[in-house]
Amino acid sequence: MNYLEKFRPQYHYSPERNWMNDPNGMVYYEGEYHLFYQHTPFATQPDFQRMHWGHAVSSDLVYWEELPPALPPGEDGAIFSGSAVVDKHNTSGFFDEEGSGLVAIYTNNDNKVQADKPQVQSIAYSKDNGRTWTKYGGNPVLFPGTTIDFRDPKVFWHEETSKWIMSLAVQDRIEFYTSSNLKEWTFASAFGADAVGTHRGIYECPDLFSINVDGDPNKKKWVLILSVGDCNGVNPNDPEPPAGGSGMLYFVGGFDGKTFISDEPVDSIDDLKWIDFGSDFYAAVTWSNMPEGAGRRLWLGWMNNWRYAGLLPTSQWRGSMSMPRELKLKTYPEGLRLVQEPIKEFNGIRSTLATLENVTIEPDMNPLVDITVDKAELIAEFEIGTATEFGFKVRKSADEETVIGFDSIEMELFVDRTNSGITNFHPDFAAKHRAPLDLSGNRVRISIYIDWSSIEVFGDDGTVVISDTIFPAPESNGLELYAVGGHIKLVSLHINEMESIWRMSDKVKEEAHADRGH
Ligand code: FRU
Repeated sequence: MNYLEKFRPQYHYSPERNWMNDPNGMVYYEGEYHLFYQHTPFATQPDFQRMHWGHAVSSDLVYWEELPPALPPGEDGAIFSGSAVVDKHNTSGFFDEEGSGLVAIYTNNDNKVQADKPQVQSIAYSKDNGRTWTKYGGNPVLFPGTTIDFRDPKVFWHEETSKWIMSLAVQDRIEFYTSSNLKEWTFASAFGADAVGTHRGIYECPDLFSINVDGDPNKKKWVLILSVGDCNGVNPNDPEPPAGGSGMLYFVGGFDGKTFISDEPVDSIDDLKWIDFGSDFYAAVTWSNMPEGAGRRLWLGWMNNWRYAGLLPTSQWRGSMSMPRELKLKTYPEGLRLVQEPIKEFNGIRSTLATLENVTIEPDMNPLVDITVDKAELIAEFEIGTATEFGFKVRKSADEETVIGFDSIEMELFVDRTNSGITNFHPDFAAKHRAPLDLSGNRVRISIYIDWSSIEVFGDDGTVVISDTIFPAPESNGLELYAVGGHIKLVSLHINEMESIWRMSDKVKEEAHADRGH
């Protein structure tokens, strides 16, 4: 097994084999970042009756080591999405005199014990850095009222009230619960049932966290994240996410330990703030217990969309994660907006392939004609000229290309994967995904991350993001810089090759290189 199969992401996490969806239980603890995830370890399709928590660890968020699945299903049901916390003060009593440990809080789906309550919340604890887990004898710790959809607990310690807070997705709302010991939970409040335009799908995978405003540690706001599913919503007339299927929203506001209040009320669909304008970024939640002082808020998402998740044209595994990204909240003329950028740790796996500066690009010239890349970072800055559209064509061959461009008439950044490779596994896959990008001056910055089956595009330093999977032929590795209808000035362009994160012997690496025609 060398992680060289067709379409295997080379610097994005995917399980060695079988199905993966949401990231779960992300926590930093004793020098390791944990990434748990929804995993069916015996099949490349999801099994919602036998979902496990898969597990991987990393010391730097770049290189990952896959460990055996952490939480298996049983009579208590499948292990659905949830979170993990470090119980520093042993509030749970699980850790006796041994100090702190990890507690996982997750949904049991389809449990056999209370058949009339298909989704309940349970906990498990680990005294050995997440390697083995004990399910709490008093599970489940939280039962639903009347709704069937009652899941995806994300828990954090709220210093101000000395309580654990759980955000939970409950069909058309996020409910907040509080606890002093992780075992007994009290309902506090609900958010979102009246948020206009958000109910085409049910809510899933919430996350509530505080974050510095404009990097100022003395100025904080609360951000509520949620994912909106592709079906079973309460209002089928509500809009789809920008790229269709399942997608993610956020709200900025205040939280007093019980109630979240959005600063900008959601009275119309124009008030909705979408996280990503591509099709493939879902169920993202943030790492808890980040190292002190760093003030960083990091997350990653599942690079897939429930509309076609089970149909991706891979065989040994199905599903991959986005790059870990750093979240920031920045002030713009229109208000506070969430900004995402790949974590700086990726600088360690890039090497310069080419640099261009101050080149005027006219129609029908391609200064990158001699460059081939299949996993790379492109960092570009343009000065708008007379061109009506410009950008890059990547993973290109005679009959395939993925276009990443800026439409200077509509002022939109876009990814067009209509002709990106294999697209016929679902009628909605071949599409152009657009994101509005208002330029403050006449310059636009675009960073692009290309891998064997994905594209992540960050416009104006992460102000807008488009994340899309693609399935090009391995030999589609051409690159083009193009302008349409006039010229454009390329102020600077850095093209960096990205190394594979899968540690391989030099021999395997050499063979892979030869196989791929380098
Ligand atoms: C989101 C989700 C969660 C659920 C999990 C099941 O993608 O539907 O709500 O816990 O996936 O795998």
